Amino acid sequence: LSTAGLRTTPFLVIGSGIAGLYTALKLAEIADVTLISKDMLEESNTSYAQGGIAVALSPADSPDSHYKDTIKAGAGLCLPPAVTALVNEGPERVRELIAWGVPFDFDAVAGNFLMTREAAHSFPRVLHADGDATGREISKALARRVRSHPRITVKEYHYAVALLTGEEGCYGALVLDETGTQTSLLAEATILATGGCGQIFTDTTNPAVATGDGLALAYLAGAPLADLEFVQFHPTALHLDGAPSFLITEAVRGEGGLLRNRKGVRFMPSYHPQAELAPRDVVARSVWAEMAKTGSDHVFLDLSLLSAELIKRRFPNIYETCLGYGLDITKEPIPVAPAAHYMMGGVAVDLYGRTALPGLFACGEVANPGVHGANRLASNSLLDGLVFGHHIFEYLQSGGWTRPALPPELTAVFPTETNPEDLTADRLTLKELASAHLGIIRREEDLQNAQRRLAPATPAGPVPLSRPYLELQNMRLLVRLMLEAACTRRESRGSHYRADYPETDPNWRKRIVFSPAGISFI
Ligand code: FAD
Ligand code: SIN
Repeated sequence: LSTAGLRTTPFLVIGSGIAGLYTALKLAEIADVTLISKDMLEESNTSYAQGGIAVALSPADSPDSHYKDTIKAGAGLCLPPAVTALVNEGPERVRELIAWGVPFDFDAVAGNFLMTREAAHSFPRVLHADGDATGREISKALARRVRSHPRITVKEYHYAVALLTGEEGCYGALVLDETGTQTSLLAEATILATGGCGQIFTDTTNPAVATGDGLALAYLAGAPLADLEFVQFHPTALHLDGAPSFLITEAVRGEGGLLRNRKGVRFMPSYHPQAELAPRDVVARSVWAEMAKTGSDHVFLDLSLLSAELIKRRFPNIYETCLGYGLDITKEPIPVAPAAHYMMGGVAVDLYGRTALPGLFACGEVANPGVHGANRLASNSLLDGLVFGHHIFEYLQSGGWTRPALPPELTAVFPTETNPEDLTADRLTLKELASAHLGIIRREEDLQNAQRRLAPATPAGPVPLSRPYLELQNMRLLVRLMLEAACTRRESRGSHYRADYPETDPNWRKRIVFSPAGISFI
């Protein structure tokens, strides 16, 4: 692609969840920012976040305690400097959100913010907004600020199809707008904040935008990805005919919700001493085991210890949504089953959000600074987007970074995984394959079978640049890499459970990294 006559903006941010919106606002303190998003600004995983944001704000809590809980959940794979940054800088970042108008729930009588306990936290440290609509409130407040910022140009319904690279790294992205017109957006620094990839599974809490585009874009441009075998399954998504896998926040268990199998028996105490508040991967596997044992496709979340008043006040969004599906949760238990929820793996970045490709940065769920290891602690993700978005800002603000002149030609690499016959049918087949083989319980034979079915094909004709086509290609590329990672890791650790290797193997305390050159271990 020729760059003749094209204008370069200082900063291009791709994605409008907490990581993209927050980083754009910070970078706008330095220079002009262009922010693109493939849907409207407010459509992101962030907007659906329920439980809240974990932060050691209370005087009785401490970053040290938050650190220990995060490291423990990460099952030996967290990078300690990243976790230190998360827990120590978290309070300051959250205070910034408060100053920007995010209305976290506040106890006016006691004069402090309301905090909930979630699984594997040793302290109630989860700040929430409008009960169970924390993400919506954060997204609204940040998007409002972004839209009115004079230095930020917002381009909604703009889909990044490929990164633009030259010998000296990344210089922006090739973008498709809603009319199907292609544009090259050139930038001094490109920040990927495209979120996760829950959509590669049939049952997921993630919205339709979460197709893992940023992971594929970075990989194809030459930036390595790490830890792709670690997918977090949330134990309690609504399981009702005709309803999506709508999340029932862990905070419901934090407030006293109990898990019962279809026979009405409470089962979590027999799996873990922390029962319903055991680490998320343990609860997800236990629910799975209980479903298998009782021959059911769901278990129940029993709220009978919670008063109707508490349920409506604390979980208004869940209450209303379930009521919309004909279920009154003040009177009946909620049928739930696990669903794909969060990708721990991501584009390998250092503490400043730098990828291996000069000029390309990443933050939020798409990035992997090593903060979550093999299993993310509940409600640490929103915080991660803020803290590491801020690190990118600090790095670029420090001025210690200069870009070589724009080369006359740039390259865009497209995925060539498949030659689809029917985009919709092929997408569903891919999701079914990922769900059947890359789910909560994995086995070598299954993984290898799935790998054989996914050998890449070269498309016959020119690549059609359309969002559904490219999403499918990106998802297929990711599934292929995830299968390889899951097959390679012959042990069980955190969210990655191998029925054929059920123990954690200390020799496997290392990370699997993919780059276009192949697989390596760090
Ligand atoms: P996202 O919020 O997913 O934003 C990604 C953005 O990138 C979107 O705007 C998307 O449209 C855009 N995008 C993607 N691809 C492209 C492309 N090719 N071109 C242009 N734009 C693109 N975490 C917590 O800490 N606490 C919680 O309580 C919590 N609850 C959750 C509840 C649910 C239902 C879900 C799904 C997740 C929850 N999580 C929670 C996880 C957390 O919400 C996410 O990990 C986090 O919000 C990710 O933020 P992000 O900014 O990285 O990505
Ligand atoms: C939840 O509210 O249960 C989700 C929290 C999270 O994913 O961190």
